[in-house]
Amino acid sequence: MSGIVVIGSQWGDEGKGKCVDLFAAQADYVIRFQGGANAGHTLVVEGKKFILHLIPSGILYDNVKCVIAPGVVLDVEQLLEEIKYVKEQGRLNDDSQLVISDNCTILLPCHRQLDGVRERELGDEKIGTTGRGIGPAYEDRMARRAILFGDLYQPETLKKKLERCLEEKNFLFKHLYKVEEVAIEPLYQKLLEVAENLKPYRSQETSLFIQKALKSGKKVLFEGAQGTLLDIYHGTYPYVTSSSTLAGAAAVGCGIGPTFLQKIVGISKAYSTRVGTGPFPTELNDEQGDRLQAVGQEFGATTGRRRRCGWLDLVGLRYAIRTNGITNLALTKLDVLSGFEEVKVCTRYRLGDQEIDSFPVSAETLGKVEPIYKTLPGWSEKISEVRSVKELPRNAREYVHYVGSELSTPIDLISVGPSREQTLWIKPLFS
Ligand code: IMP
Repeated sequence: MSGIVVIGSQWGDEGKGKCVDLFAAQADYVIRFQGGANAGHTLVVEGKKFILHLIPSGILYDNVKCVIAPGVVLDVEQLLEEIKYVKEQGRLNDDSQLVISDNCTILLPCHRQLDGVRERELGDEKIGTTGRGIGPAYEDRMARRAILFGDLYQPETLKKKLERCLEEKNFLFKHLYKVEEVAIEPLYQKLLEVAENLKPYRSQETSLFIQKALKSGKKVLFEGAQGTLLDIYHGTYPYVTSSSTLAGAAAVGCGIGPTFLQKIVGISKAYSTRVGTGPFPTELNDEQGDRLQAVGQEFGATTGRRRRCGWLDLVGLRYAIRTNGITNLALTKLDVLSGFEEVKVCTRYRLGDQEIDSFPVSAETLGKVEPIYKTLPGWSEKISEVRSVKELPRNAREYVHYVGSELSTPIDLISVGPSREQTLWIKPLFS
């Protein structure tokens, strides 16, 4: 059985899209199991850039089946646009390549609207969401009033559920947020139209479908979105997303047993970034941070926002390894560190007069820690053309070696640029 989970080990944007695209060359299935169009997975193939938000990153290979599992919140209009976009790029020529579970939660325009007005009301206290309606859509799922993908094909059920959903949202829009209410009929008609267009991708039972694939020895990749520290339970709450981003969520989001998850690959940048509000111990509010931002082109793929940047944080990574059960790591964007005279790695935190090496559960406490750094010599050489570890400058090799040994976890892959070729494989994924 080959079930491999690929997750973000930091605050998202670690380069999961590129890694999943690389791994997908050897896979049979790629499955999205949580999150929604808040994700922005960037893939660069033959100099061409693709940004995917909902469609799994295996879509660029004709022979890879892509599944959107029940744990995902589905913005159906966005999905249709994305399908159109990938088709225009000459992909998804066979509709059976993409499979969407009837049990996915539908994300409606009113969820996006609610996300926006809530953030506006929070002012300085805002979460800094992507504005894609993720929180309100998951709220409806938990409140047991969500519209599911399968409901789009039951017009009467859809109408009833929509009325219930909008009744509450419109009350909030009118009385609390003082914004325009949403009319039901045009939305209902729109959803019926979208449903018709998405019919070829519909599947009533993805859990069984995935399990059969695993049992018959197919190679299945579970593609995480966002990152460990944005997890709703184990992240820097409340500055988190509204789904569980941990590897275990792959089992829950797909409806398969955790025993199918054989390998957990954690993706980490060679430094750290974060978008949105919330504590970030190694953040650099200086020219070094500006440099990481500029050289790393650190702008959000979904919102275009400038990402906050800082040094690599081993305390956070150890936490990610523990909470996900990470078995192997991939280190991305090592090329961005070229040209720094010295590079720093946070090994512990100082909290008051104590030194700690475990990640505080409370975001408030995390906001008070000071990073304790190990300083390593930098390297001046550009490394984006390097294709093997032995070609790396010695100090770059030592940096990678130091990180791997401090984390006691093998680093199987190093990425030195966005394209597929800019990858140094240390160990193949399916071995
Ligand atoms: P939401 O998921 O849009 O509700 O946003 C909640 C928090 O998660 C905000 O800090 C966002 O910036 C962050 N976030 C959501 N999706 C991503 C992502 O794909 N990469 C990085 N940060 C994300």
